Amino acid sequence: MNHAGYEIRETLSGQTFRCLPDQSVLSAMEQQGKRCVPVGCRGGGCGLCKVRVLSGTYQCHKMSCNHVPPEAAKQGLALACQLFPQTDLSIECLRRQGPGDHNNKNQQEVSS
Ligand code: FES
Repeated sequence: MNHAGYEIRETLSGQTFRCLPDQSVLSAMEQQGKRCVPVGCRGGGCGLCKVRVLSGTYQCHKMSCNHVPPEAAKQGLALACQLFPQTDLSIECLRRQGPGDHNNKNQQEVSS
């Protein structure tokens, strides 16, 4: 690890970003303006940010058993919002972006 944390690589998109050990992978991704994993509740409950960890060491905080049962967790499934790296990680987003998702960037910003 260097001062900027660990390197996280999302293999389907090829995107990489840095993540500190006390920061969740999802939060690091958002902070660096990447969108390779869908963002939902950010609290381990909705399952939107589900990924498979292909390589690296990590810790998971509390995750909904509905989305990641213990068996699946043993096989590397994790919720990115509850995933904290201990080494560089390779992850794969399990939730494919739907065909309409590219429209998100066309959404109007709500200004007050
Ligand atoms: S964003 Fe909802 S479980 Fe991670």
